[in-house]
Amino acid sequence: MRISIASDHAGFEQKQILAQYLAEGGHEVCDRGPENDNRVDYPDFAKLVAQDVANGSADFGVLVCGTGIGMAIAANKVHGIRAVNVVTPQFAQLSREHNNANVVTVSGRFVPVEENEAIIDAFLATPFAGGRHTGRVEKIMALEQQ
Ligand code: RB5
Repeated sequence: MRISIASDHAGFEQKQILAQYLAEGGHEVCDRGPENDNRVDYPDFAKLVAQDVANGSADFGVLVCGTGIGMAIAANKVHGIRAVNVVTPQFAQLSREHNNANVVTVSGRFVPVEENEAIIDAFLATPFAGGRHTGRVEKIMALEQQ
């Protein structure tokens, strides 16, 4: 899969590890930065990954900040994005099955990197279930037109 990944300073260390983990797992990884842990503003990096997913140049996005919360809020401002801040593999799975999430945001400060690897694995391995969830996701996306 083509994965776009980025972080802020708080997520930088885990972003480096997670990007390598994804590449070793056979994914095509586009690292949107930053290149070091100097202080930056997370919306700038959420925007880059969200745009990659929204324009189809990436299949999924991964964002890492201190909590994952700011990244999710910012990414969800880009049309076409369904970003979820996830702290367990089960929620990652459900966010794909029920919500057809296309960006996962994780915490670089409060969740160990091994758990974030498991979260990302679950996220990428789980297809959207469709069925009764389809119309609900369509209603979410229709909110962008209002
Ligand atoms: C940076 O201090 C922190 O606010 C950021 O990484 C993130 O947790 C925001 O949601």
